Amino acid sequence: MSLKLLALSSFVILANAHLAAFHKAMYCFNGTVPGQVNYNNDAPVSPLWMLKTSDWWFHHFNQCDEFPPAEGDFLELPAGGSFTVEVAGNRGVTSLSFNGQFTTEWGDGLNHPEDYSDSNCITSPNMHTQNQSMAAGTAFAISYESDLSQVTMDNLAVFTVRYNTPWKRVTSYDVPQDMPACPAGGCTCAWVWIPNGCGEPNIYMQGFKCMVTGATSTTPIATPKPPVWCEEDQSTCTQGSKQILAWNQAEGNNIVVNGTDQSGLPKSPAYNSKCGFKDGKAFMLWL
Ligand SMILES: *[C@@H]1O[C@H](CO)[C@@H](O)[C@H](O)[C@H]1NC(C)=O
Ligand SMILES: *[C@@H]1O[C@H](CO)[C@@H](O)[C@H](O)[C@H]1NC(C)=O
Ligand SMILES: *[C@@H]1O[C@H](CO)[C@@H](O)[C@H](O)[C@H]1NC(C)=O
Repeated sequence: MSLKLLALSSFVILANAHLAAFHKAMYCFNGTVPGQVNYNNDAPVSPLWMLKTSDWWFHHFNQCDEFPPAEGDFLELPAGGSFTVEVAGNRGVTSLSFNGQFTTEWGDGLNHPEDYSDSNCITSPNMHTQNQSMAAGTAFAISYESDLSQVTMDNLAVFTVRYNTPWKRVTSYDVPQDMPACPAGGCTCAWVWIPNGCGEPNIYMQGFKCMVTGATSTTPIATPKPPVWCEEDQSTCTQGSKQILAWNQAEGNNIVVNGTDQSGLPKSPAYNSKCGFKDGKAFMLWL
């Protein structure tokens, strides 16, 4: 099969694919077969639901965490600046495969209107939303541990959030000015997302090797605390440095909700104001 046919055949399964943030510094960038490069890799996009902690943590259930990026590949986080990843259902429709010939503005390699919407939920890309305003938000968290095995809920802190994502393929996130530099082996980062309905109420988490560039501060970030549901009263939100949201897993959850949110939908914890996350860089990482 030609490369093009290989790429096109993957589109058939894309309808069921979910999403991940693609970058060469991600874990399982080339898939999960040792020594092989899967240019149509979708191993990191699968959602996490009712898994044991050891399985959902950094997407271990399909071994993604066992395939670190190539030596020297880091997601660079410029202090006070921003960085970009490609949110897509498959590496084949990003700039990281096939010289980017299958890319469009969207994460499925297809074209859609600016005001793309579907009252029954958009399924391609599988963004688990009806439209941009309903997109729940995605985030990145950082641990100052180079070794993924040393990363825990207590040293992995959310440092940036992008409201109303996932949406288009190229997505940027802002980096706090006061992020200190990483150890020589780099930091460990995670991309996280919890959709608001539109399917199984699951979570997303995938790993990266990352490093802060241009750091001027040396103050370590504070130990993150679990976020809480606080839509009705923002004064009850967890202040300062926050953990990622672990929800609807068989083990390791740090948030439980019941009932409906203010719009009448079942409560779905999210990287937005409902759980006390602000859009953009986190200003309170040191509290
Ligand atoms: C992944 O594949 C790329 C080619 O796309 C290669 O440069 C890189 O070294 C591979 N990474 C690993 C960890 O094997
Ligand atoms: C987005 O979808 C929600 C839920 O279906 C709907 O209430 C809202 O009006 C839509 N917004 C736009 C701008 O289409
Ligand atoms: C829902 O949550 C509230 C507060 O966390 C709790 O007091 C209440 O008992 C819960 N209700 C049900 C039906 O689980």
